[in-house]
Amino acid sequence: MGRFRAKLNRSNSPKPFLWQFKMSESAKHSGNSESHPLEDLDHWEEDLLKRYPEPASFQSEKVSQQTEKFRDYAAEARPSVKEFYRLNHRNQTVEFVKQKQSEYLGLKRCRMSIWEAMEYLNQLVDDSDPDLDLPQIEHLLQTAEAIRADGRPDWFILAGLVHDLGKILCLWGEPQWAVVGDTFPVGCKWSDRIVYAEAFAENPDRDVPLYQTECGIYEPGCGLSNLMLSWGHDEYMYHVTRDYLPEPALAMIRYHSCYPIHREHAYSHLVVESDQALLKWVNDFNQYDLYTKRKERMDVDGLRPYYEELIAKYFPPQLHW
Ligand SMILES: [Fe+2]
Ligand SMILES: [Fe+2]
Repeated sequence: MGRFRAKLNRSNSPKPFLWQFKMSESAKHSGNSESHPLEDLDHWEEDLLKRYPEPASFQSEKVSQQTEKFRDYAAEARPSVKEFYRLNHRNQTVEFVKQKQSEYLGLKRCRMSIWEAMEYLNQLVDDSDPDLDLPQIEHLLQTAEAIRADGRPDWFILAGLVHDLGKILCLWGEPQWAVVGDTFPVGCKWSDRIVYAEAFAENPDRDVPLYQTECGIYEPGCGLSNLMLSWGHDEYMYHVTRDYLPEPALAMIRYHSCYPIHREHAYSHLVVESDQALLKWVNDFNQYDLYTKRKERMDVDGLRPYYEELIAKYFPPQLHW
């Protein structure tokens, strides 16, 4: 059985959702513990909080390497999370990433607005505690509202609102390990700063000598944008939004799960000087992503007019997904 289920309001579904319903159903039935080891998709993010605990004041935090905490962390991870990382590290190969890029990045699956995508993502309900978990839309709004409360630029707020919409990949039948999890470059030697790096022992790319060199398929200093990152919700959502948002917002969306680079400072031989400014923005965003989850419910209907106006400022009424 899958560890999440899709909950849909069939009677009010707008037209594009009819096709999506079929995908949701197939996602529901194709799930198994091999593809969905996490009882709750959010357990990966809860685990990130153990690895990167909230500082007393996250606004003023100077991000440190916290090496010892990082090392201790793997021992504390719950078994389902370890299994999740094992599957992720075993299966995220160069070939797999290329296959997913060609499957999804043509953006030919459907057209829908940002708000429709938010409502669609809300159908993702985990089996563990469906009544206790906040709907996905609330994490998006909590992130965006915290950014807004700090008086940040409106495109920053919008990045907070849309950054996790790529998790709809789960509703299209993708296993958890191909949607969430720390991302990392494929096609070159895995950094030991990637969480649970020992699990790469099972990855078939281990047998490709080129992929085991420091630079692998890349030139030294090729820059972030030329790296092929492991497949997940970040890269997909970057492609959905890439024509509409300023560069720092796109970096937040594309790299927010790339903890080995933005928090652990790995792969410095592939990053260029001009990436540093973008990584600063990603770090800035990461504080809001990690540390704004609250149990209090958001007033979704009350907030909607403000966000619909903001969405309309940057995005067309319908986007390609
Ligand atoms: Fe995310
Ligand atoms: Fe997030």
